[in-house]
Amino acid sequence: MMMERKKFVIIMAAGSGTRMGADMPKQFLELDGKAILQKTIEVFLEACPGISVITVLPQDHIAYWRNYCLERNFICPQILVHGGITRFHSVRNALERVPDGAVVAVHDGVRPLLSPGLVRDIFKKAEEKPAVIPVVPCVDTMKVLEMKDGELSAIPGATADRSVLYGAQTPQVFHSEILKEAYSMAYDTSFTDDASVLEKYGKSLSFMIGERLNIKITTREDLLLARAMISLNKD
Ligand code: C5P
Repeated sequence: MMMERKKFVIIMAAGSGTRMGADMPKQFLELDGKAILQKTIEVFLEACPGISVITVLPQDHIAYWRNYCLERNFICPQILVHGGITRFHSVRNALERVPDGAVVAVHDGVRPLLSPGLVRDIFKKAEEKPAVIPVVPCVDTMKVLEMKDGELSAIPGATADRSVLYGAQTPQVFHSEILKEAYSMAYDTSFTDDASVLEKYGKSLSFMIGERLNIKITTREDLLLARAMISLNKD
């Protein structure tokens, strides 16, 4: 019988969050009386008790987060890692703390609204598959445009067939030795998520349908939407 892989989650929270326009990076803003980051971590602890949590933070917010957890009595063993210049560099720092032979989820700290069921399902699928990516079908009609002299214009001949387009979300889950190998490559600006790093490394990916409500809280409107979703769920 195959040995079960030990589970890790890397919670990405080292962004500066400037698009929100708040003083605090958005992962520390409160939702339902708790920091967004705490709510996100709690979903993983509920889904997989015993999971090892690695939280990646801006260097100058590590002490703040440690104090926040103590004051709020949020007692969860976390490995705190400082972030890098881009998300890619932040993930790479965190992977130094993950052994080979494990299974590791990489999740945006600003996606607190996923269900524990999704976390369990994606780890389950990763027992068989080395790289599992949650996606949602595209509902909007997509246009391929470029910004020229301050005006948006169509790129001639470029079209996007909506029926084959899906948005990639997190948590993306990997066998750790494969993710670590892929992350030993040099940085490329096309790396917007972990799946794109693996693809460039030549590995194939498996997909499953994610959750439309698992939004990335990026702007003030997203925060309002998240608050509304939480209060609706309580009714
Ligand atoms: O910037 P973007 O929206 O792609 O960020 C996605 C996630 O990656 C956020 O949770 C953010 O905190 C994290 N991030 C990071 N290190 C960076 C940039 C972003 O951990 N240097």
